[in-house]
Amino acid sequence: MSKPISLTRYLVEQQRVDGHIPSHLRLLLEVVARACKSISQAVNKGDLGGVLGSASTENVQGEMQKKLDIIANEVLIEANEWGGHLAAMASEEMEGIYVVPNRYPQGEYLLLFDPLDGSSNIDVNVSIGTIFSVLKKPEGLPGQSQGVSEQDFLQAGAQQVAAGYCVFGPQTTLVLTVGDGVAMFTLDREQGSFILTRENVQIPPDTQEFAINMSNMRHWDEPVQRYVNECLAGKEGPRGKDFNMRWVASMVADVHRILTRGGIFMYPWDKREPNKPGKLRLMYEANPMGMVVEQAGGAITNGQQRILDIQPTKLHERVSVILGSKNEVERVTSYHAKL
Ligand code: AHG
Ligand code: MN
Ligand code: MN
Repeated sequence: MSKPISLTRYLVEQQRVDGHIPSHLRLLLEVVARACKSISQAVNKGDLGGVLGSASTENVQGEMQKKLDIIANEVLIEANEWGGHLAAMASEEMEGIYVVPNRYPQGEYLLLFDPLDGSSNIDVNVSIGTIFSVLKKPEGLPGQSQGVSEQDFLQAGAQQVAAGYCVFGPQTTLVLTVGDGVAMFTLDREQGSFILTRENVQIPPDTQEFAINMSNMRHWDEPVQRYVNECLAGKEGPRGKDFNMRWVASMVADVHRILTRGGIFMYPWDKREPNKPGKLRLMYEANPMGMVVEQAGGAITNGQQRILDIQPTKLHERVSVILGSKNEVERVTSYHAKL
């Protein structure tokens, strides 16, 4: 049997042999992985570590924070601020950007994260995760100040240089793309390192499994209702086949299942708050998952357009999300076009 390949070796080879990533990006990804290991430890301790339950504070989105939302956010900041690879960070749990303090060297990358995805599942011992996205700080024009601002983060998802997530489930699995396909690494707790366990992950283009919070059905718009009704009609309906449904309510876990065996995931716009484009966050959830899904041969849209083409106008922008097996995503998107 060939020797296991660690994340470190995988990244060194991406840098040295294939020339895909510069050394600072390699360092950044190593640090994010180390932070994920540390979050995984905290998650595993659960009640023994006193990490469960609410923090009794609200984030900028008006959501109640769990203790682990805050712990994971702090772990990611502390791990990443001193290495010299970053200019600034942005997080679902922080109102403004976090600029690397002056006492540390400033790098050229920007890191965005959803430190803890699936917060409602923390206390019930169901899979949760961390999602991350990496952008390059735009080069300033000659004569312009060298600082970093929120504006620098407002880049379309297609500009991401790396993205991924770590799912804390029965196993801790890190899923990564640097724009050259998708690789999965499983945490070996005895060695303390992530080991490459799947390469060139591909999402099958067809599926018979959908994921959506069905309790919101009456609030969806017509194209999404039509698609789900057709799935529910099964063999006897227009699709001529039965569909299965899964909804973990942690995007990381639902996307991870789709990467493993195909499927479609939707968190659509709904009528309750017509001015809110969706629940999920463009910069911390949809864009990084979008890069991963597209790199695995899947698709992601908001019903109207490819999500990675959206020009963000604010850091905490929300978006309607349809992602997964290509042919199904194209079908739902085409139902929107016929409106
Ligand atoms: P977060 O915990 O970061 O706020 O994200 C939760 C998101 C996402 O993970 C999941 O798909 C969705 O919210 C679950 O929503 P419902 O509670 O409506 O099922
Ligand atoms: Mn989330
Ligand atoms: Mn979160």
